[in-house]
Amino acid sequence: MIELKNFTELTADERTMVLEWRNHESVRNHMYTTEFITLEKHNTFIDSLNHCNDKIYFVVIKNSAPIGVVDLVDITDTSAFLGLYANPFSDRKGIGRIILRALIRYAYETLHLTALHLECFEENDKAKALYQKFDFIETKRTSKNNKPILCMELHREHRNA
Ligand SMILES: CC(C)(COP(=O)(O)OP(=O)(O)OC[C@H]1O[C@@H](n2cnc3c(N)ncnc32)[C@H](O)[C@@H]1OP(=O)(O)O)[C@@H](O)C(=O)NCCC(=O)NCCS
Repeated sequence: MIELKNFTELTADERTMVLEWRNHESVRNHMYTTEFITLEKHNTFIDSLNHCNDKIYFVVIKNSAPIGVVDLVDITDTSAFLGLYANPFSDRKGIGRIILRALIRYAYETLHLTALHLECFEENDKAKALYQKFDFIETKRTSKNNKPILCMELHREHRNA
């Protein structure tokens, strides 16, 4: 069974767990903000989500085990930008597919959005393969931190999950 636990409902231990994931090199290196995040900054960020209507972050839990983080930002009535990372301490295969499917379902079935957007470093082969598997299509290329970025989107009527 898959559950989405809102960051604003995490216990102190769960907040620390998420911070350890987010600061792990294999996650940090694929994010726009690559510097180490302190617990104080992390807690301030999570607390700020209580007053935010345009972003939402979840820990994805499968059969009681936390397996990854998914988020939607810049949420409007029709669309949002997604983000995700798998628990970097897990050696289980296929976590990406499970957490992305959960996020797509939440976006389309709970929020009733009609389009999902994302940005991904061109060099991030795993993420690219994952998004392509879910039929995200490339819409343009840009760059950030001097690295090429792929912009992709998936419309609700084209979803396969
Ligand atoms: C992106 C991420 C969530 C994918 O999670 P994951 O659990 O590795 O996902 P999967 O194991 O399902 O792998 C995704 C697919 O990529 C494939 N893959 C792995 N390495 C690859 C590579 N170097 N090149 C191409 N495809 C690759 C896998 O084979 C898999 O395909 P399969 O399901 O057909 O086997 C995970 O790698 C992660 O958290 N990365 C760090 C954070 C990040 O990059 N987030 C996305 C930012 S845009």
